[in-house]
Amino acid sequence: MSETVRPVDGLPMTRGTCPFDPAPELAELREEQPVARMVFPDGHLGWLITGYDEVRRLLAARGMSSRGDLLRTPIPLPMAGNRTELAPGMFTAMDPPEHTHYRRRLTAWFSARRTRTMEPRLTEHVDLYLGRMIEEGGPTDLVAAFAEPVAGLVICELLGVPADRRDVFVKGIKALLTVHSSAEEAIAGWQNVGGQLMELIRAKREEPTDDLLGTLVSDGAFSDEELATIGSVLLVGGYDTSKNMIALGTFALLAHPDQYAALAADPGLGAGAVEELLRYVTVMHAGSIRAAGADMDFDGHHFTEGDAVSLSLAAANRDPSLCEDPDRLDITRPPVAHLSFGYGIHQCVGQQLARLELRIAFEGLARRLPGLRLAIPEDQVRTNPESIIYGVHELPVTW
Ligand code: HEM
Repeated sequence: MSETVRPVDGLPMTRGTCPFDPAPELAELREEQPVARMVFPDGHLGWLITGYDEVRRLLAARGMSSRGDLLRTPIPLPMAGNRTELAPGMFTAMDPPEHTHYRRRLTAWFSARRTRTMEPRLTEHVDLYLGRMIEEGGPTDLVAAFAEPVAGLVICELLGVPADRRDVFVKGIKALLTVHSSAEEAIAGWQNVGGQLMELIRAKREEPTDDLLGTLVSDGAFSDEELATIGSVLLVGGYDTSKNMIALGTFALLAHPDQYAALAADPGLGAGAVEELLRYVTVMHAGSIRAAGADMDFDGHHFTEGDAVSLSLAAANRDPSLCEDPDRLDITRPPVAHLSFGYGIHQCVGQQLARLELRIAFEGLARRLPGLRLAIPEDQVRTNPESIIYGVHELPVTW
């Protein structure tokens, strides 16, 4: 098929009137050219994929590569111009067999059985911050009072950050993930968090612990440098996603009061609500990125080796072929095979933990604060459509 249509100029990120709907151009593309040409921010001519079936097939395709030297960001980022050597252990930017070498050990740790054992601790964390919110009374910012501390505590506990160092650690992560930082600030942020992780790893070599990092240290399979990278990957992969999912998910529920009321009336809907909110808001709205590892043909298009491919999980999750009335939030929907955790060999390793954390968070909110509502008009809630992970800056709520 000839590619005569004008290429898309960068990944469309700006939202329309509904803050939960992906950029309107994505729906048009999905309808008209689910496999489209796109100019990346660095000028590279690659591809943008918006159809559910196409995204899923490409994420599972052997020809698609995650090699760091081939990947390009579909949105402008402070560190994008700084192409540095891949840090040892950066398995997210590797293909098999290197990727498998790292991933296998993490998968074992994140098994469904092991994740279930975390339920009592997660419930304690959620209860702690809900209790504080209730004690202090509304109105309050749900991001600062609930989403951030819960997500921060979960990640600290996972990595085994000692209780007295958690505040400093979470501050470091927040600085690192601030959207508007310059390249220098972003690099300084990485070094700060990397330094803290190194210290943590050395301490665990001296005194073994049974948290995730401690277990990997005792395993002896990875060097300290590799472990520090793995720690950073988990932290970046796990903190901002969970925090924004709690906050944006709550925003979506409060913007659809019938849905929040349904959850408050029947907490048994929690697991279904989590799946539907994951699909509906798709916090990883910049999607997955891959590159053609070799020349390949796909649905009549020719991908040349090295072509960058941006796969829109947000557009795919709203494809009418996936479920009925995909633009409607319905927490009672039968299960939908959404792509919010990606698909294929790089699919989210922490998804069971994320699901559990979210279920406990939403159920806790609905049970203890059934009268929760937005404290400002819906259209005044500030979102951050320009960042990799979609979310809200703050969520003023009252009850
Ligand atoms: C709601 C929360 C979360 C969402 C929406 C989410 C989403 C995703 C997505 C879409 C991917 C695939 C990226 C790609 O295709 O390149 C991914 C990968 C990953 N996620 Fe998550 N994630 C969440 C929570 C977590 C948590 C809690 C952890 C761990 C603590 C985690 C760790 C990772 C890691 C390590 C990868 C890379 C896997 C690989 O390359 O093999 N995520 N996540």
